[in-house]
Amino acid sequence: MRTNLLVANWKMYKTPAQAAEFVREFLPKISNKSDEIVICPPAISIPATVTALEGSRLGAGAQNLHWEKEGAFTGEISAPMIVAAGCSHVIIGHSERRQYFGETDTTVNKKLRAALDVGLTPIVCVGELLEEREAGITDDVLRRQCSIAFREISGEQARKLTIAYEPVWAIGTGRTATPQIAAEAHATIRAEVAKALGDELAQKLCMLYGGSVKPENIVELMAEEEINGALVGGASLDPKSFAAIVNYRSAKA
Ligand code: 13P
Repeated sequence: MRTNLLVANWKMYKTPAQAAEFVREFLPKISNKSDEIVICPPAISIPATVTALEGSRLGAGAQNLHWEKEGAFTGEISAPMIVAAGCSHVIIGHSERRQYFGETDTTVNKKLRAALDVGLTPIVCVGELLEEREAGITDDVLRRQCSIAFREISGEQARKLTIAYEPVWAIGTGRTATPQIAAEAHATIRAEVAKALGDELAQKLCMLYGGSVKPENIVELMAEEEINGALVGGASLDPKSFAAIVNYRSAKA
């Protein structure tokens, strides 16, 4: 059985004080006792979030990392720093990083190896652009993103690997992939992982869906066998709405 994972990606929202306030409001609202829940604040708000989460079973994660351990890389943070700050997870290759900050499949691969080296759980984001879906090349794009991202990774190291399928056309647009579209993409990704890292690992791989996940669509998404969790942007910023998402198991149909 795969453990489901629900992740808040706050992107560039919430100061340290706002992050702590969110956690105070959010924790008492959680009824889900079985799935993993992780909050990824902006780097500057990680310490406040980690402190506020102390004593809870929730984890914290970073939204990005540099692949070197340290060095003259102004503005960057490294995998060991993320661990030292109390994080268990890190998001890698988010489409906004690819679109606005020049991240490529090759840098995703370097970052993934750096994260695995220090025992972080990497959440590697893949997904096609609208033009790519319309051109009928979604599967090719996903295969390329995965095959480059997983180069030189051993099956043993990769046990922590988590993948988020985030179709770029569904991010922040209110347009969600249907559960069937998401499930199909997940099956393509799983097959690619099987090729790169072996069948056993691919079967156990935790795969998240991201893109306009809301309290209104989480139940339907999580009902898909292929979907093992969600990476939530906008709807994770409000404690009530993120609680409604993580509590999907007790939602009324
Ligand atoms: P939205 O949930 O705001 O569409 O963002 C999705 C996302 O990019 C999560 O990483």
